[in-house]
Amino acid sequence: MPVLNPSMRTRLSTQLGAQNLGMDAIIFNVGSEGWALEFEEEAIMSGSTVEHVKDAAPVMGKYFDILAIRTFPSLKNREDDYSELFIKQFIKYAGVPVVSLESATLHPLQSLTDIITITEEIRNPGPDSNRDLLSGRKPKIVLTWAPHVKPLPQCVANSFSQWINKWGKADFVITHPEDYELNEEFTRGATITHDQDEALKDADFVYVKNWSTYTDYGKIYCNDPEWMLTNEKLQQSNNAKVMHCLPVRRNVELSDEILDGPNSLVTQEAANRVWAAQAVLSEILKPTL
Ligand code: CP
Repeated sequence: MPVLNPSMRTRLSTQLGAQNLGMDAIIFNVGSEGWALEFEEEAIMSGSTVEHVKDAAPVMGKYFDILAIRTFPSLKNREDDYSELFIKQFIKYAGVPVVSLESATLHPLQSLTDIITITEEIRNPGPDSNRDLLSGRKPKIVLTWAPHVKPLPQCVANSFSQWINKWGKADFVITHPEDYELNEEFTRGATITHDQDEALKDADFVYVKNWSTYTDYGKIYCNDPEWMLTNEKLQQSNNAKVMHCLPVRRNVELSDEILDGPNSLVTQEAANRVWAAQAVLSEILKPTL
């Protein structure tokens, strides 16, 4: 698994999922352990990059049956980040299936996990859960922006929006401050509002996540602590379950009282990362079995 960005959950859950399937997983931190890679075609490599991805990826493709790669956006140039050059170059040159462990703009394994977690909660409500979703009624799912001290990628919010829209089994509302609109390619189909209280009304699930601005790319325009989810705000919901991909900045994005309370699904969600990774790896291996 070449890694170009730090990770705890994605790296460990994918490694565990692979082990559960009888695979050997080798972690390779490209950024710190490998040669500095060049990704641009026809680059004159007289600068700091040492090896071109078109030379490195085919070698990795000979060593491994599957490559799983994590990259990170610059948050400086939207066109570059949204071109997904890094992962696309690995896909182009590896010669084996490539799994995204989070790319510049998307985090699909996280979103598969999130859908698994929501489905699990609907079908097997816990002792503190509402049971009314067992009737088959559509859940109301809210993605709410939260404050953060650093500009973060839009990956998790993009992917969550893309997957919930495609899933099609929820009333989906996205709420964020003005100027935090996400790429419409992913949000189209959702109700979008700047009124967080309105969005939270009758919600069954609230997904909390920070992202930096998409339009004026990679900026922090707002850090209003009023956007942090608290138990008081959650009163407006239908005793909603609260989700976050982790890592979370406590008492900045989400309050201790929620994270440590009965509405939080964050540990269950992170645990499900193993099943999501395992499902994807097993699907890729099917033709070889
Ligand atoms: N949610 C998630 O991707 O966590 P890590 O960054 O720790 O992998």
